[in-house]
Amino acid sequence: MKATITEMDMPAFGKSIGEACRTGSILYLNGTLGMGKTTLSRSVIQGLGWSESVKSPTYTLVEPYELDNLIAYHFDLYRLADPEELEFMGIRDYDATNAIWLVEWPEKGTGMLPCPDIVVQFTDATDARQIELQGHSDRGEAQIETIRNAWEA
Ligand SMILES: Nc1ncnc2c1ncn2[C@@H]1O[C@H](COP(=O)(O)OP(=O)(O)OP(=O)(O)O)[C@@H](O)[C@H]1O
Ligand SMILES: [Mg+2]
Repeated sequence: MKATITEMDMPAFGKSIGEACRTGSILYLNGTLGMGKTTLSRSVIQGLGWSESVKSPTYTLVEPYELDNLIAYHFDLYRLADPEELEFMGIRDYDATNAIWLVEWPEKGTGMLPCPDIVVQFTDATDARQIELQGHSDRGEAQIETIRNAWEA
């Protein structure tokens, strides 16, 4: 699906993604600097009930959020020098089945990340962003259908 999302729309759009992905999903967030990847991640995490702040994990590389019956991992791999570093971080022990993964700059982690269920592509639009969601698994396809129905309703 494709949608034009203003900054004001982001909380609601993120919430619909979070609700559809509650049972677990790996999301790759692709887009150049400043396209809104962190803003969308924050919207998903807060939409799932997190009431505190969600900061960009630029230096920590990953920030986990323990939500009701669910964990969300927010990655920002921009500063990752080598995908192998993810091994040292213990990425193999992260729950890749029942958790939500929001991964900024996934190309920096090539070979060390689980395959995506959903790839989110951000492009610039006048006073907004064009956001495209592509399914890369049966689960991801179904989740996008749920998001589309919620968003277009
Ligand atoms: N849907 C939107 N429409 C217009 N502006 C937006 C939208 N979403 C976020 N922004 C603005 O874009 C700027 C960058 O947002 P953000 O930090 O989320 O980008 P990012 O993709 O995470 O950047 P980086 O690549 O540096 O991690 C912020 O100033 C934010 O307010
Ligand atoms: Mg960011």
